[in-house]
Amino acid sequence: MNIGQIININKIGNNEYGFLSFFESNNDIPFEIKRVYYIYKTPVKSVRGFHAHKDLQQVLWCPHGNIEILLDNGINKETYNLDEPNKLLLVGSGIWREMKWQSNESILCVVASNYYDESDYIRDYEIFLKLIKEGYWNGN
Ligand code: TYD
Repeated sequence: MNIGQIININKIGNNEYGFLSFFESNNDIPFEIKRVYYIYKTPVKSVRGFHAHKDLQQVLWCPHGNIEILLDNGINKETYNLDEPNKLLLVGSGIWREMKWQSNESILCVVASNYYDESDYIRDYEIFLKLIKEGYWNGN
């Protein structure tokens, strides 16, 4: 079972002039984009994240550099390496994530299915495991 889903999007261009990649709400990713954010100037080996979301879906990608994403559904863990600008990672709700910067100047871009809402975050791993056990996300 895959916890996240890699989506390889189009890459148009060549080595002479460079490349262009794109993706569209509902066509390439399964939700309407309500928010975009990005994390930058993060020192190599930093680890961020350490949370899950109750409802939010997100797509992550690294347009420059290399970032390792650990996903945990409370039972299994998987790591994904975002090392190509046209490689997206879809992360659904109810997934604990940790993001590790593997090279300097790596940038993490994220599009999200909803506006920022701190009450959608679960920042305590024990509470995350408790909600998994209670079946909070069953039916998702
Ligand atoms: P957070 O999602 O915890 O980042 P990370 O998991 O990468 O460490 O967000 C860091 C801070 O930024 C936190 O105080 C919430 C705030 N924030 C917003 O105000 N709006 C946003 O859209 C996001 C993603 C975060």
